[in-house]
Amino acid sequence: MIDLRSDTVTQPCTEMRRAMAAAEVGDDVYGEDPTVKRLEEEGAAALGKQAGLFVPSGTMGNQIALHLLGERGSEVVCDARAHVVDYEMAAMAALSGLLPRPVASADGLPSAEDFAGAIVPTVPYRARTTVLTVENTHNMAGGTAFGRQRIDAVLAVARQANLRTHLDGARIFNAALALGCPAAELADGFDSVMFCLSKGLGAPVGSLLCGETAFIAEARRARKRFGGGMRQVGVLAAAGLIALRQGPGWLARDHENARWLAERLAAIGGIEVDPSRVQTNIVIVETAPTAAALVGALRALAVLAVPVGPHRVRFVTHRDVGRQEVAQAAGRIQQAMADAL
Ligand SMILES: Cc1ncc(COP(=O)(O)O)c(C=O)c1O
Repeated sequence: MIDLRSDTVTQPCTEMRRAMAAAEVGDDVYGEDPTVKRLEEEGAAALGKQAGLFVPSGTMGNQIALHLLGERGSEVVCDARAHVVDYEMAAMAALSGLLPRPVASADGLPSAEDFAGAIVPTVPYRARTTVLTVENTHNMAGGTAFGRQRIDAVLAVARQANLRTHLDGARIFNAALALGCPAAELADGFDSVMFCLSKGLGAPVGSLLCGETAFIAEARRARKRFGGGMRQVGVLAAAGLIALRQGPGWLARDHENARWLAERLAAIGGIEVDPSRVQTNIVIVETAPTAAALVGALRALAVLAVPVGPHRVRFVTHRDVGRQEVAQAAGRIQQAMADAL
């Protein structure tokens, strides 16, 4: 089986498993786990923030941030296809009383003008906008990465409207690699940033929420309230440390494989994709057959992919698939297209 559903499917490598077995641990709810503390410090430093908090999932990191940055009964402006809108179980509404105000965009980052137009003017008969979020890379836009110039324009709009800002940087190291800059440069200016250890970086579990020291102290309290207080969790942080230290170095191969796959797929009749727009490890294609038909035919040929629209299928490269598997997958996709059409 060649699993291209997501970069979340990676298995912890031998070095991670060894580190997990040997990890020094303590009760992290009492702040006594030395391995977690090390991970939080190193993670925050990598993102240029004062402090970090280890959370069980990217979703929890995003939702704690929105919970603290937003004000109950107010609005959050974000891209229309953002993970916080479509894939987090309406958590901002259910847990924090926040209303997402989705803004359409071509590539995952609305323009400064479009964001500005979505911010509610201060009048006594409308809810306020309190938060602006950005997703970098943007998953559903096909792993697109946004550099400083566009981020600065958007942050200027947020600042002018007195909004707090959050960066969903689940794949921030993919963005940094694609843009040739440090991850910290992309996180600069946001009140909070979340990034995942468990995606391309290869850890089995975990994400970090980073921000100023006082914000992270509050986030620690919110994490407990959300049921995310963990005990001897240094066993997971030990794998996270390897992901943080070594993972960014593994991503170039994933990006090359994704571009290579996109080039092969572009040559198959009934599939539309522009390989030059594949910047990181995510390839989203338009398909003539329904996505369900193609994904079903692929499964029968031992390739896993995800339908992300009626005629859209997502393939994600990651550490556990090499060029050979990607080449095999390309061949089977060609065969599946013939079966599905
Ligand atoms: C952009 C983005 N943000 C947040 C998340 C949430 O991460 P988790 O699955 O760990 O909750 C994901 C997961 O795929 C994601 O792609």
